[in-house]
Amino acid sequence: MAVKAPLWRPRPTLGGRDYTSEAVFADEREHVWWGHWVCIGRAEEIANPGDFLVRDLAGESIILTRNQDGRVRAFYNVCSHRGTKLLDDEPACGHVRKAFKCPYHAWSFDLDGRLIGSPNVDEDEAFDRDDYPLHAIAAEAYAGFLFVHLGPEPEPLLDSLRDGIEIITNFERYRMDELRVGVRIVYEVKANWKIVVENFNECLHCPTIHPELVQVVPLYRFGEVWDDESQDDGNWMVEGATSFTMTGQSTLPKFPDLRPDDYRMYFGTYQFPNLMLNLHPDAGMSYLALPRGPGHTTVVSEYLFRPETIAAPDFAPEPVVEFWDLISKQDWEVCERAQTGVGSRAYRAGVYPRQDRFLFAFNEHYRRVMGRPLIG
Ligand code: FES
Ligand SMILES: [Fe+2]
Repeated sequence: MAVKAPLWRPRPTLGGRDYTSEAVFADEREHVWWGHWVCIGRAEEIANPGDFLVRDLAGESIILTRNQDGRVRAFYNVCSHRGTKLLDDEPACGHVRKAFKCPYHAWSFDLDGRLIGSPNVDEDEAFDRDDYPLHAIAAEAYAGFLFVHLGPEPEPLLDSLRDGIEIITNFERYRMDELRVGVRIVYEVKANWKIVVENFNECLHCPTIHPELVQVVPLYRFGEVWDDESQDDGNWMVEGATSFTMTGQSTLPKFPDLRPDDYRMYFGTYQFPNLMLNLHPDAGMSYLALPRGPGHTTVVSEYLFRPETIAAPDFAPEPVVEFWDLISKQDWEVCERAQTGVGSRAYRAGVYPRQDRFLFAFNEHYRRVMGRPLIG
């Protein structure tokens, strides 16, 4: 018997300036982007010792690498001599044999950030190299995703990941650490990162914006994102569909060892602040949102498959990619439209009806992280 949904009273959205103001963005840098665990990429990009990745996190350039013991390490992209930026943004990934060398005075740092070379600095200056390592950042991998935390004394990553309504730790059966990126698409979206997240977490817009999507996930016709009777917030695909494509079919092999229902379901999950994950019977797709300013977000969309699927000569990701790319572009267009509207002097705040309750939950989480009072 269907359980009647609890009563909902309309709640306010965030304020217009939360999406547009430089001052709010500066505050978010401290609390959200540099004071919380944040996803920054896939561990496979630094598969071997000496591989490195350069990423911009809300204006701070970060180096991620793997040390000789195979551990993920992260540092500010800043030389400890006189602050020079060590590595360029492009190419964003590469490999060093043993050390990073500063392009200014050629000081070099090993994969653990230790200063190991400082040409023409005499030992008799009482100069101890141990005192000048790179500035380290907490970094860890979970499910093949790389996370960093720029603040002091971060809580354990797993505690942070489990703090939310939807959490990626519910999906270990998909063995995401074994999956590999088969296709990557980078979108530049002229909208605030929270508009992107909010759009991901509701489907009130699905009947109008995504006519193709509601064919594959019938529940979305009703603007609902959560089937109360399915596990882990999964949604049934239309009868007969086994892949997230226009036809509901693909030639991709299914993931092994899922629960029987998983082969007919779509799971979408959000990990605060910037990881949005979609799981299908034969593919995963993650959106990584990286803020460039109050009105600009880079969204990296990566399609994940089993390595043997990618290696197969008949690997054909196109039906999944084309479907998601269509949905993505539909979403970004409407996000940009929303961004324009919330910037109006007329807009103070909007309203969340029941189908928007995940957005309200996200906003409450955001308020907590920002040190603002909750609305409740
Ligand atoms: S600033 Fe890097 S070696 Fe001098
Ligand atoms: Fe959408």
